[in-house]
Amino acid sequence: MQYTTIYTSTLKWYDKHKRDLPWRRSTDIYSVWLSEVMLQQTQVKTAIPYYIKWLKNFKSVEDVARADIDVLLKVWEGLGFYSRCRNFHKACKIVVEKHGGKIPTSFDDFIALPGVGTYIANAVLSIACNTKLPAIDVNLKRVYARMLGLKNDTKRNNIRIHKYGFNLVQGARPGDFNQAVMDIGSQICHPSKPLCNVCPNKTYCKAYVSKKPYLYALQKKDKKTKTKKMIAALIMVDGKCVIEKRDDAGLLGGLWEFPTIETSATLDEDINTLFQSRFSKQITLIEKMGSVKHSYSHFKVDVDFYLFSGSQKLKSKKLFKWINIDEFDSYAFSKVNHKLKRIINND
Ligand code: ADE
Repeated sequence: MQYTTIYTSTLKWYDKHKRDLPWRRSTDIYSVWLSEVMLQQTQVKTAIPYYIKWLKNFKSVEDVARADIDVLLKVWEGLGFYSRCRNFHKACKIVVEKHGGKIPTSFDDFIALPGVGTYIANAVLSIACNTKLPAIDVNLKRVYARMLGLKNDTKRNNIRIHKYGFNLVQGARPGDFNQAVMDIGSQICHPSKPLCNVCPNKTYCKAYVSKKPYLYALQKKDKKTKTKKMIAALIMVDGKCVIEKRDDAGLLGGLWEFPTIETSATLDEDINTLFQSRFSKQITLIEKMGSVKHSYSHFKVDVDFYLFSGSQKLKSKKLFKWINIDEFDSYAFSKVNHKLKRIINND
């Protein structure tokens, strides 16, 4: 295998064509870690403004550890996959309490932190500490699958890809090498229309040699995305409305929302009964205000939004608050709830 040749041609290409990204201006481990957490499951252009804003507000692990989770979630609001933010908060607290504020640079200690898996550990330690580990995300996986001529997303092929990445990254600039392949993956080695002519490694690539590189993308068969039906309630009393806090676990955990129930009920009486049992009968459905749709990575939601009247004394088992609608921006809400807010404002 031509590991050294591929390593050299890849870095030569990177030195000429690398993207100028804010997290590439420093190898400070805190900011590299933050960038990799944000970039997992999020596109580069989406992550950039969040990364900049976060670093303005929280310059160190101590700043994050000290911060209230609601304040952190507000800065993260809109970036999605909120467990990343909660785990980063927990991990920074552990770094302060257990490691004296110094982010561990050994693989075993770093990967033991909440939210740190093999990808994050390898990416961060290679970029910030020059550790020779391959950071294999979806882009690198596709690039390496093509170089090796692998079509199927099997356990055996994933092990081969990991070993291949490991052998390639053994030079003096492992972080740059991993990031070079990230750039080749996103700029050249596209899933369906790879631009092989400008690829520095085409001569060593089995998929290119086969003349049908698009067949080597290691994609799993598309599953049909499920749509969940939800009903959200605007419970208004004397100019104030109820917002509830979602449980910490799971999707959107820790965010605030208009009280929401997953149900396919469509009749007013049924919807009224569902919400009355949640709020000890102290509310009454008035009318439907509108509906919104939203797509997450694995499913879609259709949300109908209903206005309820009620009593300020209502009770619920969940944590809730009364707010004026102009206080909405002081809390972290999901994208769906921002869309619902637009219905209230008639935007
Ligand atoms: N995606 C994940 N990590 C990245 C990085 N360091 N540079 C560009 N894209 C990335």
